[in-house]
Amino acid sequence: MLVEIFPDYETLSERAYELVATLIRRKPNCVLGFATGSTPLGLYRRLVEGYRRGELDFSKVVTFNLDEYVGLPPSHPQSYHHFMWENLFQHININPSNVHLPNGMVDDIEAHCDWYEEQIRRVGDIDLQILGIGPNGHLAFNEPGSSLGSRTRIKTLSRATRRANARFFGSEEAVPRHAITMGIGTIMEARRLLLLASGRAKARAVRAMLEGPISAMVPATIVQLHRYAHVLLDKEAASEL
Ligand code: GLP
Repeated sequence: MLVEIFPDYETLSERAYELVATLIRRKPNCVLGFATGSTPLGLYRRLVEGYRRGELDFSKVVTFNLDEYVGLPPSHPQSYHHFMWENLFQHININPSNVHLPNGMVDDIEAHCDWYEEQIRRVGDIDLQILGIGPNGHLAFNEPGSSLGSRTRIKTLSRATRRANARFFGSEEAVPRHAITMGIGTIMEARRLLLLASGRAKARAVRAMLEGPISAMVPATIVQLHRYAHVLLDKEAASEL
C-alpha cells in the first residue's frame, strides 16, 4: 500500500488528477470506477479542466459508479446519477453508453445487481477504482458489518451515514434508507484502488483503515489486502496516524 500525505485538499486533488490523467493518456479505453461524495469533487473539477485544455479525451473511457440511493430517480438532485452528470459527465466527451451507474428505481433489485456485476465482467476489470471513506469506515455504501466478500447488492444505510449525508438532503429523515452498492469483493477486484480522504472528520476512520486490524466492522480496512492500493490524504485526515 502506498500512502501519500499532502498539506491540503487542493494538492491532494492535484495528485489524484495527475494519476487519473496519466492512466487515461496511457490507456484511452480504460475502465474507471467513480465515487461520489464531496471528496472527489476537486479531482472531477480538474478532469473537466484537463478536457477543456485539450489534454484529455474521454471518448473511449468506460465508467462504473460505486453506488446509488434506492428510490431516487436519476433526475433527483441528490441522486448519484445526477451528481455524476452535473459534476463531470456533462462537461466531457464521454459516450453515455459507456457510463454505468446502479439504478435505484428498478423493481427487481437483485436482478439489477447481477446485471451490474455482469457489465463489469463484460469489460474485463476496472483499471482504477476511486474511493472515498465514510467517517464510520464504510466504502461506497458497504456499512460496518458488511461481508468482506460481498458483491453488488442492496444495503440498509446506518444511522451514522444517514446523519453524515443529511447535509445534502436538508434533514436526516429525508435521506433514503437503502442503497445499491458494489460489494467489497467487487471493489477488491479492481486492478488499482485510489482512495482519497480529506479533513479531520475522517482522521479516526483513516487510522483504523491503515493501522487497525482487518475487520468487517471497518470495511475500509480491506484495502490492506489489495495488491495495489494508493491512499492520498491531506494533513488533517492523516492527523491520527
Ligand atoms: C458517501 C458515499 C461514499 C463516500 C462517503 C464519503 O455516503 N456513498 O462513496 O466515500 O460517503 O463522502 P464524503 O466524500 O462527502 O465525505
